[in-house]
Amino acid sequence: MVSLGLEDKVILVTGGNRGIGKAIVDLLIELGAKVAYIDVATDNGNPQSLGIKADVTDPASMETAAQEIQAKLGTVYGVVANAGITRDNFFAKLEPADWDAVINVNLKGVAYSIKPFIQGMYDSKAGSIVAISSISGDRGNKGQTNYSATKAGVIGMMKSLALEGARFGVRANAIAPGFINTEMTQKIPDKVRDKITAEIPCGRFGEPQDIAWAVAYLLSPVASAYVSGELLRVNGAHHT
Ligand SMILES: NC(=O)c1ccc[n+]([C@@H]2O[C@H](COP(=O)([O-])OP(=O)(O)OC[C@H]3O[C@@H](n4cnc5c(N)ncnc54)[C@H](O)[C@@H]3O)[C@@H](O)[C@H]2O)c1
Repeated sequence: MVSLGLEDKVILVTGGNRGIGKAIVDLLIELGAKVAYIDVATDNGNPQSLGIKADVTDPASMETAAQEIQAKLGTVYGVVANAGITRDNFFAKLEPADWDAVINVNLKGVAYSIKPFIQGMYDSKAGSIVAISSISGDRGNKGQTNYSATKAGVIGMMKSLALEGARFGVRANAIAPGFINTEMTQKIPDKVRDKITAEIPCGRFGEPQDIAWAVAYLLSPVASAYVSGELLRVNGAHHT
């Protein structure tokens, strides 16, 4: 029998209350990890996960949450920075508030989610950080200049963290999901959804579990020990 080596590893998932984050929480628990999640609501229906109400845009609330997680579960090995939002509109129509909201959650929120745990990872000489970027950050998307900028930003953040963390045994990678069936994509009008689906070589939107398995791979000290600073695209061959 082989294992991904995640048994009893303490892992934080941000935005774990629904969608992709909830699928990540559920899979990591199946794989034997001790999982905490942070979200603005904590009713994800998985009693084996530790839910903590916190806002990734607020560094003080993340510090407090981090203390609670480490007191209850132990030193954190993995952080999955998954919480994200959209405020879509064409560039000419985007207001400063649309930029601020998306940058605060998707870019600064990723940094604030990782920061409270990084020294502990360095001290224990083990850690894996996974940021959920997006196909939009990798290749751009109409109506998402603000979102794409943040999702490209976290790719750079992970590449730099990978360089800083390597000598401490701490890895950092990003995942760029294509279009995935969650509440976030339910906002897409049917006509646009049909057009996007026609462009996806696999002929369908992805499921949250498709991303969860990629996260498990990148967290695994067994399967991805030599993978760091990488962008893993999970998109049904939807590259161009
Ligand atoms: N669904 C897709 O097609 C898709 C594609 C590419 C990337 N992504 C990215 O995947 C991640 C998850 O997306 P999803 O589709 O599951 O979205 P979702 O909207 O279904 O879930 C996002 C979760 O993040 C939480 N969240 C939002 N703001 C928060 C904050 N300030 N603090 C704490 N939690 C907060 C929400 O409450 C929610 O539970 C996001 O980063 C998103 O940008 C999604």
